[in-house]
Amino acid sequence: MLREEAAYFSSRYEDAVREPDTWWQEWAAEGAVGATRVLFVATDDGGMLGVVGGFRRLNPDEVQLISLWVDPRARGQGVARSLIRAVAGWAREGGAGRVVLFVQEANAPGRALYLRAGFRPTGDREPVGAGRRGFKLVVSATVDTLLSHDESPAA
Ligand SMILES: CC(C)(COP(=O)(O)OP(=O)(O)OC[C@H]1O[C@@H](n2cnc3c(N)ncnc32)[C@H](O)[C@@H]1OP(=O)(O)O)[C@@H](O)C(=O)NCCC(=O)NCCS
Repeated sequence: MLREEAAYFSSRYEDAVREPDTWWQEWAAEGAVGATRVLFVATDDGGMLGVVGGFRRLNPDEVQLISLWVDPRARGQGVARSLIRAVAGWAREGGAGRVVLFVQEANAPGRALYLRAGFRPTGDREPVGAGRRGFKLVVSATVDTLLSHDESPAA
């Protein structure tokens, strides 16, 4: 994910692999409990299809969705939509009403996906950072929208 599609993520592979194993074990353990952060993995009989993370922001009404990735062999089948709904469901369980995330301006498939799922730009944008050119947009949706949204106007 970070190596082959590095351009779409703020985190860098070189940095991720420098973290000690304990850091990832803690992330996975806390993500499984789901109190302050969460990790969902989509699977089928052949293994892992995709992943998404989320964490509660300081504003208790907001959850931030991170690290959404679907294996290229499983794309175009609604896996990302299911993962987004999973994060929205987790947000609702914790009492949050809104999901926010960053998507890079240059990531046309990602932007189309989020628009289709019901996210809308907030108007905020920031440099991608990590030594890369370009900007990332902040998009936001209510949990109600994400859990009820079947169709929205095409991108
Ligand atoms: C973007 C990504 C997560 C989409 O995953 P996916 O499982 O193929 O997406 P879905 O099948 O759930 O698609 C849902 C909707 O998103 C839109 N969409 C998804 N991929 C698209 C693409 N390549 N081009 C245009 N629209 C796309 C479509 O509107 C689709 O709905 P529709 O089929 O009803 O028209 C996947 O391509 C990926 O992992 N990309 C690399 C990592 C990445 O960019 N992650 C997001 C970082 S913010």
